[in-house]
Amino acid sequence: MKYVVAEASEIESGGRKIVTVAGRSIGVFNLDGEFFALRNRCPHQGGKLCEGKLWGVIRSEQPGAYEYRPSREILCCPWHGWEFHVRTGQSWCAPERLRVRRYEVETVAGEELAGAAEAGSPPIGDPEAPAPGMVKGPYTAETYPVTRDGEYLVVELPG
Ligand code: FES
Repeated sequence: MKYVVAEASEIESGGRKIVTVAGRSIGVFNLDGEFFALRNRCPHQGGKLCEGKLWGVIRSEQPGAYEYRPSREILCCPWHGWEFHVRTGQSWCAPERLRVRRYEVETVAGEELAGAAEAGSPPIGDPEAPAPGMVKGPYTAETYPVTRDGEYLVVELPG
């Protein structure tokens, strides 16, 4: 089913409009003149995804060099901060940063600790450093095709 959701001029570039269509809350986004629609329900735990902040995209081909595209294509869920690509609904994350930090545990006799402290040895069990790099996350937000019919935006929902 197709639904007219807005006049195209209502949603400025970088902006959004949240509408209710057939009982579903949907966010319609304008990315530099292209329109995309996502369900306003985060696939993680149901947060109001389309009310989250929009970020640009940073790309880096090598250490020390990066390119920032301020097109605000990444949508950050307001509940737990998972990030979704507005164009595809795909989530992205840095899995190493999402892990609980792990510490080594060992039993040491009290006299050994006292001796180590006197000798100036480093503390036991340094935490692991998080690894850089983003990978596809486990979640994909529901997306819907948006077409422009003259002055109006039309969202198509599955029957
Ligand atoms: S509900 Fe969206 S990140 Fe958890």
